[in-house]
Amino acid sequence: MNLIEIIKTRRSIMPNQYNNTPIKENDIIKILDAANWAPTHKRTEPWRFKVLSGSKKEELGIFLANKFKSTAAVFSEFKFEKIKINTNKADVVIAICMQKDVKQLVPEWEEVAAVAMAVQNMWLMATELNIGAYWSSPNLISYADEFFDLKENEVCLGFFYMGHYDLPTPERQPGDINEKITWLK
Ligand SMILES: Cc1cc2nc3c(=O)[nH]c(=O)nc-3n(C[C@H](O)[C@H](O)[C@H](O)COP(=O)(O)O)c2cc1C
Repeated sequence: MNLIEIIKTRRSIMPNQYNNTPIKENDIIKILDAANWAPTHKRTEPWRFKVLSGSKKEELGIFLANKFKSTAAVFSEFKFEKIKINTNKADVVIAICMQKDVKQLVPEWEEVAAVAMAVQNMWLMATELNIGAYWSSPNLISYADEFFDLKENEVCLGFFYMGHYDLPTPERQPGDINEKITWLK
């Protein structure tokens, strides 16, 4: 696939679409290496990743489900189970984190933007490798510091779920780009 084909083929592939085929460690490394080439103002390279698999990934699912149980204004058994099942269905879950720059060389939004660009690189690389992925940003991410040993000024922005899948890539028709452009000549 050439670049535009990869961009247009990239989709959010959800955990319920993953089969149980393990992702090769070398592919995980390729995906993370792609992240590391994202643009970054003042070269702060704020992206940080925690790669969870096996029992650690299951532990995360149990932690998140229990956190949901203890904090939800309205508890739902269905959602509780879904949180646990999603981490089990993914072959690998990557916590997307950001190391805030203590010197504040750049505004925080630029650091978030750089992390998001790193995630897009990962997502495109995963697409090329036929690995399904999606960025989940649950409210529960605010409790990440209770699960991970985060450094000072490190925060997490979500989880990147990954798994091989068989189903065809879901269709998507974005809104008309012409409605989002103002040409100034
Ligand atoms: C920063 C960010 C956070 C997201 N968080 C969630 C999420 O919490 N739950 C979810 O179902 N999808 C989430 N998504 C995925 C979007 O729903 C998805 O990208 C959108 O529906 C377009 O579909 P596509 O990725 O297949 O093109 C997130 C995407 C981004 C960029």
